[in-house]
Amino acid sequence: MNDLLPGRLNLWYDLESAIRNVVEAYGYREIRTPLLEHTELFERSIGEQTDIVEKEMYTFRDNNGDSLTLRPEATAACVRAGIEHGFLYNQTQRLWYLGPMFRHERPQKGRYRQFHQFGIEALGWRGPDIDAEILLVGTRLWRQLGLTGLRLEINTLGSNEARSMFRESLQTYLSGRREEIDDDSRRRLQTNPLRILDSKDPDTQKVLEDGPDLSDYLGDEARANFDTLQNLLTANGVEYHVNTRLVRGLDYYTGPVFEWTTGSMGAQNAICAGGRYDELVSQLGGRGMPAAGFACGLERLVDLYENSGGSDNAEPHDVWICVLTEDAASQGFLLAEHLRDQHLKVIVNCGGGGLRKQLKKADQSGARFAVVIGEDELRSQTLTLKSLRTDEVQIRLTKAELVEYLKPAC
Ligand code: HAM
Repeated sequence: MNDLLPGRLNLWYDLESAIRNVVEAYGYREIRTPLLEHTELFERSIGEQTDIVEKEMYTFRDNNGDSLTLRPEATAACVRAGIEHGFLYNQTQRLWYLGPMFRHERPQKGRYRQFHQFGIEALGWRGPDIDAEILLVGTRLWRQLGLTGLRLEINTLGSNEARSMFRESLQTYLSGRREEIDDDSRRRLQTNPLRILDSKDPDTQKVLEDGPDLSDYLGDEARANFDTLQNLLTANGVEYHVNTRLVRGLDYYTGPVFEWTTGSMGAQNAICAGGRYDELVSQLGGRGMPAAGFACGLERLVDLYENSGGSDNAEPHDVWICVLTEDAASQGFLLAEHLRDQHLKVIVNCGGGGLRKQLKKADQSGARFAVVIGEDELRSQTLTLKSLRTDEVQIRLTKAELVEYLKPAC
């Protein structure tokens, strides 16, 4: 779990404001749900045989004996909130969220136990138009942030029947070659065979090459929807690659799934991923409704943004006010409030010190101007203005003149 320190947060602010701009341009509305949910919500949605539920959740009992879990993702919570507040009933919703998620994974670069996701969920549309829209949201965000080199892979998991037929034939095929696949995949053979397609083990991948292909099991409707999705992407200039081995680590997916990866970040290369989950609303007790969405790992996105030239430079303050006596300090605070009313960023020197020391601090702060208030200034009801970034000589001004001078300059 990371501390996000002041120096780095400007990158996050850039990202957060780009995200807000983009999602609002598509009509998505923000939702904020609690960090804690009943454990059962994640067991029923993500699936009991998944890595997340089997070994990565922070789960504990509260004083009432209820089992609670720090949210490992937010899709289930959006659906839970929609059902609870009735805003999914006979309606469509475009939602977005941003916040911390928790998974007890082995930490490494790009993989943390507390991380942040930004995500969107579109509830109530069957696709493939909304599937294309969701992919356009991501594409626009990468463009707005100046990110290049992201690779979009898409696949479709087809209907429940298609998937279960494929699962069966994959299971039969791999059982025949169980000695050749890795331990983890052997374990998954009984519990979650589709996840074996995801295995990073080269021997397992080799065995899979001769195995059944999910695309051969798709029904006409899934195939037609997937074709339309691809046409929409091509017509909108979105580059993509079909990867028939792409499956997801959460059980709720039903149709098209996708993942954006980067080649520049080592093993943790998935930046954003999602897909369609048409069964989840009814599975969690609501009236059945189609849905799709994605979530994006912000730590990974921040790294990528920084590598592509994003800057973590804070805008420096406009003015540093040096105060040389106790009365000057009191006047300094009044002046600072007045300047802040004019939307200037102002620091009043705190902690005392002589003029030289205060001017040095002002200079180091990056502020453009220093204003000095000492006994002379108090007596003559003026202020001394010194430009810290040019050679202009210092000048004496009244408070009104100072405001007039600074407003256009800053
Ligand atoms: P996910 O693939 O589990 O999907 O996570 C989405 C993204 O979150 C990943 O691609 C990655 O960028 C980031 N991420 C996941 N785990 C970590 C971690 N431990 N440290 C840093 N980043 C991480 C979901 O969570 C689904 N809820 C996505 C979705 C939304 N599907 C439909 N709607």
